[in-house]
Amino acid sequence: MKELKIFGIVAIFTLVLYWGVEPFAHSQMHKHVEGHNLVYDGTADVEECAKDKVATKKAFWADVKKIAALKGDAAAGEATYAMCAGCHMEGAVNMGGVTPPSLEHAGAIYDKNFLIALIKDPAIATNVDHKYPNGTMAHPMGSISTMVTTPQDIANVVAYLQAKKAGEVTPKEAFTEACGRCHANRYGHLTQLGEIPKTKSNIATGKDIDAMKYQEKVAVEEASLANYLGKLPPDLSIIIRARSEHFLHTFIEDPQSQLAGTAMPRTGLNKEGMEKVFAYLEETGDPSKPLREETGPKVLLFFLIFTALAFLWKKSMWKGHH
Ligand code: HEC
Ligand code: HEC
Repeated sequence: MKELKIFGIVAIFTLVLYWGVEPFAHSQMHKHVEGHNLVYDGTADVEECAKDKVATKKAFWADVKKIAALKGDAAAGEATYAMCAGCHMEGAVNMGGVTPPSLEHAGAIYDKNFLIALIKDPAIATNVDHKYPNGTMAHPMGSISTMVTTPQDIANVVAYLQAKKAGEVTPKEAFTEACGRCHANRYGHLTQLGEIPKTKSNIATGKDIDAMKYQEKVAVEEASLANYLGKLPPDLSIIIRARSEHFLHTFIEDPQSQLAGTAMPRTGLNKEGMEKVFAYLEETGDPSKPLREETGPKVLLFFLIFTALAFLWKKSMWKGHH
């Protein structure tokens, strides 16, 4: 009887801790962030920005929505795109701290409103304008707002991206284009400069000079990124195991919502882009997941058959003993 009482008390305390104290502590340490379902309309920006910026942000996103309502002419947008390609070309070089990403699938992975906003003002679009108190010309893509200026030109070049720079995109391409300029993924053999090239050691010395040269280039790029962003962005090989899916979703959708003041830009992914980036993070961080999912039902089936057999066996053994 006494043992039962003690057990009861222990059980109650455990449950109180489990359902009461732990979730409370958790909610205090990590604020719960609601996502915005990958809708980029300025709602989040207005919630997060300083009071004196509210009017600017509202006006900015109202303009974005007006441009989004225009009918873009993809053919006319191609000529404008040449200006983008001046920076975003194959073999692009570091520019103001970061290497412009490939836009090969920009029309597929980024949201339309976000692309419009990005051309109007890359710092506001990516929600890092707090880094540029003297206006956004200091942003490495800032000059675009002086090059593509009319609403119709913006609508045209976005129409061009959606028509010609879309198509099927693999998880790896989505990651490389949206995240790879800042984040390495060691398990995916990616540095901020792309795929790690295959090199060979010198037969006589055993030293791989090409690999060393490559490592030097990566080190230089990383130093430049750390300077631009205030810190080196972490390797994302196994982030999928370290962070919850909800955290990752809301963080990637709008880094400021979880980490006010962070230098990571909002990447403007749409649903497809987010799914593909996630697929890549799973591929590198949890490569056994497909195998596990495939094995699970087989194990259950095995137990079911085993139980049935055991039951039949027991019945046959006990037959005649009653
Ligand atoms: C002066 C060079 C330059 C020009 C011109 C330029 N960009 Fe960029 N762009 C950059 C750089 C640098 C970055 C990376 C910025 C960063 O990561 O902070 C970038 C980033 C981007 C991104 C990724 C944004 C994100 O965070 O997800 C897209 C999409 C993009 N540019 C589209 C365009 C388009 C479309 C044009 C033409 C209308 C264009 N860019 C013109 C330099 C340029
Ligand atoms: C322009 C550079 C840049 C790009 C592009 C970028 N990030 Fe980041 N990211 C950062 C920086 C800087 C940090 C460190 C943030 C901090 O601590 O302030 C970071 C941190 C993170 C974290 C760590 C959050 C945590 O606290 O555990 C995750 C996850 C992440 N990024 C995911 C992504 C994904 C996914 C993409 C592509 C969709 C991406 N990032 C694109 C710069 C970038």
